[in-house]
Amino acid sequence: MSTNLPPRGRSHAIRSRRTFALAITGASGAAYATRTMAALLERDCHLEVVVSDYGRRLLRDELGEGAAVDRLREYLVETYGDAAAKGSFTVLSNKDLGATIASGSHDCEAMVIVPCSMKTLAGVAHGLSRSLIERAADVMLKERRRLILVPRETPMSLPQLKNMVLCAEAGAMIMPAMPAFYQMPKTLDDLAGFMAGKILAALGFSHDLYPKWEG
Ligand SMILES: Cc1cc2nc3c(=O)[nH]c(=O)nc-3n(C[C@H](O)[C@H](O)[C@H](O)COP(=O)(O)O)c2cc1C
Repeated sequence: MSTNLPPRGRSHAIRSRRTFALAITGASGAAYATRTMAALLERDCHLEVVVSDYGRRLLRDELGEGAAVDRLREYLVETYGDAAAKGSFTVLSNKDLGATIASGSHDCEAMVIVPCSMKTLAGVAHGLSRSLIERAADVMLKERRRLILVPRETPMSLPQLKNMVLCAEAGAMIMPAMPAFYQMPKTLDDLAGFMAGKILAALGFSHDLYPKWEG
């Protein structure tokens, strides 16, 4: 892309990318988030990323200091290759309820919360909008746009199960972090790739993140 575009042309060029909100919360499974981010960036998407406080801790605890939010871009390229630098992303504060994705008028076609904690799931189920993550999810539901929740917990309490039902009834897609084993995964990245592939398929992308079942 030319760097000499006038400001208007440049912003149009950025907006023409498919834009998604991607939230990372404090449920185990940071690699599901980074694999999904990398796969969407490889497809030249723009991501509006929000990481909760426990999501920030999760990235460092499970992937190391190198995956801290302020060096996520470098981490994605180091881990998944140069193609992860193709798209763009902005990190928004979870406290900023005036950020872009807090409004239905913003051009963001879908949202993924990966991984999704039971706490955030409860907030979405009850439309609380206490944080940017909860508000953006609420926006997706009210605008009838795709909202994909990737919860991880085991076992689950009745309130947690009921909250998933509430979200599903409101139109969200519940995609539990449950990688399959029939593709014979050999590495943790194979498991993360399975979930990232399911998310990409739900967003309408073709991919080869896991081998397709041939029967
Ligand atoms: C090491 C660790 C692992 C956790 N794993 C999970 C989990 O798998 N699922 C979950 O729902 N919560 C888990 N939690 C609890 C959440 O992080 C906690 O409820 C937090 O308040 C979620 O906030 P958030 O949704 O704003 O990120 C974990 C917490 C820690 C410290």
